[in-house]
Amino acid sequence: TDLPLILGIESSCDETGVGLVRGCELLSDQVASSVAEHARFGGVVPEVASRAHLEAMTPTLHRALDGAGVKLADVDAIAVTAGPGLAGALLVGVSAAKAYALALDKPLYGVNHLVGHVAVDQLEHGPLPKPTVALLVSGGHTSLLLVRDLATDVRLLGDTVDDAAGEAYDKVARLLDLPYPGGPPIDRAAREGDPSAIRFPRGKWGDGTYDFSFSGLKTAVARWVEESERSGSPLSVPDVAAAFQEAVVDVLTRKAVDACRAHGVEHLVISGGVAANSRLRALAEERCARAGIELRVPRPRLCTDNGAMIAALGAEVVAAGLPPSTLDLATDTSLPV
Ligand code: KG4
Ligand code: ZN
Repeated sequence: TDLPLILGIESSCDETGVGLVRGCELLSDQVASSVAEHARFGGVVPEVASRAHLEAMTPTLHRALDGAGVKLADVDAIAVTAGPGLAGALLVGVSAAKAYALALDKPLYGVNHLVGHVAVDQLEHGPLPKPTVALLVSGGHTSLLLVRDLATDVRLLGDTVDDAAGEAYDKVARLLDLPYPGGPPIDRAAREGDPSAIRFPRGKWGDGTYDFSFSGLKTAVARWVEESERSGSPLSVPDVAAAFQEAVVDVLTRKAVDACRAHGVEHLVISGGVAANSRLRALAEERCARAGIELRVPRPRLCTDNGAMIAALGAEVVAAGLPPSTLDLATDTSLPV
């Protein structure tokens, strides 16, 4: 086709991602993760992540080019995550993107990581309906966005005031002696448990905002675990996992559906690592069906951090005719949407 070939580079957290797209067509998606190196610390260590990006960037880029059967010289534009994310990690991707843009004499576009998580859905389900509400749930973010246009009109409706949803999963997994990252083992354990066995608090429930809070929930789980240790009564890990998970997904799906209703929006995208959660998917499907909202959840591989999502957003920015970034493009650890 004659759509431009967009190279996307992602390095905001612990995944080095390089992807290639044309419009809504995914040509390749290569990711190198340093997650195993962070496992023994129970969370991402910024310095370890930066060094891993530095080592993985060039080989990942070459795998992506090979995967798409294209050459570096075929690339028409380069999109890179400018933020939000970890300072040193972001710098590696932005430096690499600048070097390629300069060497190839191709335009460079710094883009927002959060919006990339929404744009990626186009690679799976085609053009995003306008407007769309997006729920981004990952280890670093819990945000509700009103997306009127991916390139030019994205509004933040709400955010977590403390822990991110995935971070809450990771911390609660630690309390339950489950491995890091905690989302998948809690998801699995919860299938054997009773979500109504314990009523954990739903942070910011019904407070009229689209903000979230998970630190009170995490503390409630910690108290529950301590109490069972002190009283000597056996702790049911599946019940605690199921009840914790229900508290998280109940408030996530409720606020997402409320946001759609309040803004007259009939489409919801859920993305980010936590979108892989089976209970979140099931409850969102149920509540969206009841509210007449079309639910889109990209496949798990596209929900977690990757370069294709950045390329997908780059394609939108190029199509919208926005001016490229200059070579002094700065990273911004808390880049707003
Ligand atoms: O998007 P992601 O790969 O990285 C960023 O944080 O940006 O998300 C990782 C997060 C981790 O906190 C992990 O525990 C969580 O996503 N996660 C899950 C599941 N799979 C991954 N949380 C709940 N249920 C899952 N099945
Ligand atoms: Zn992310």
